[in-house]
Amino acid sequence: MTIIFGHRGAAGTHPENTMPSFQAAIDLGADGIELDVHLSKDGIPVVIHDETVDRTTNGTGYVKDLTYAELQQLDACFLFPEWSGKASVPSLEQVAEWIRPLNVKLNIELKNDRIHYGQIEEKVISIIGKYTLESRVILSSFNHDSLVACYHISPHIERGALIHERLYQSWEYAKTIPAASVHPYYLSADQSMIAESQAHGVMVRPYTVNDEQMMKDLMKAGCAGFFTDYPEMAVRIRKSL
Ligand code: G3P
Ligand code: CA
Repeated sequence: MTIIFGHRGAAGTHPENTMPSFQAAIDLGADGIELDVHLSKDGIPVVIHDETVDRTTNGTGYVKDLTYAELQQLDACFLFPEWSGKASVPSLEQVAEWIRPLNVKLNIELKNDRIHYGQIEEKVISIIGKYTLESRVILSSFNHDSLVACYHISPHIERGALIHERLYQSWEYAKTIPAASVHPYYLSADQSMIAESQAHGVMVRPYTVNDEQMMKDLMKAGCAGFFTDYPEMAVRIRKSL
């Protein structure tokens, strides 16, 4: 079965990377959620996509220059004004505590490909351990050195290598990290790439798939999973097949 991850929660219909967005994704039937992590000025893993707060909140500046207390004051619903005032930037720990009793997966993307955050791997893995989420978490990143670091800290937590461009025999590359899965840009994942990679034991989970026909094709191709801003659409399509 193709596993459906709500991308930044249910980002097509809710303010991305907020608790209401994560709750919506699960309520809509997603098998898991995806979120993005940076470190605040005081070293707290926080859930937000960009390096700055400008696009998604009513604040300005780099996440790394704001304390967690300052981030909590921001309205994270800037992209969905009807939600204004209803959600702030969550900490990873807040999400971990919420997801613990739920039987769903959690893809944590370490957003450390543009900014080097000292010890982000240790801090994130410590939260995963505190809430005993090891068997349900996938750590992903475009920074593959960071995934290698994760492997050395906690080899049993699954790793997924995010890849922008089409990569020849990406499954072979994934094994050098080692990563159990590759997460390619959706246009780089065709049927033969998926079949070949998965035949070699490396799961393929493309991002970000928001097109109905593409969802159908991926499911029919036996793709391990994908990330979508519209989990409701993906769940409906999966039921119809
Ligand atoms: O994890 C898949 C996807 O989220 C990677 O791209 O930019 O949406 O974080 P981005
Ligand atoms: Ca992401």
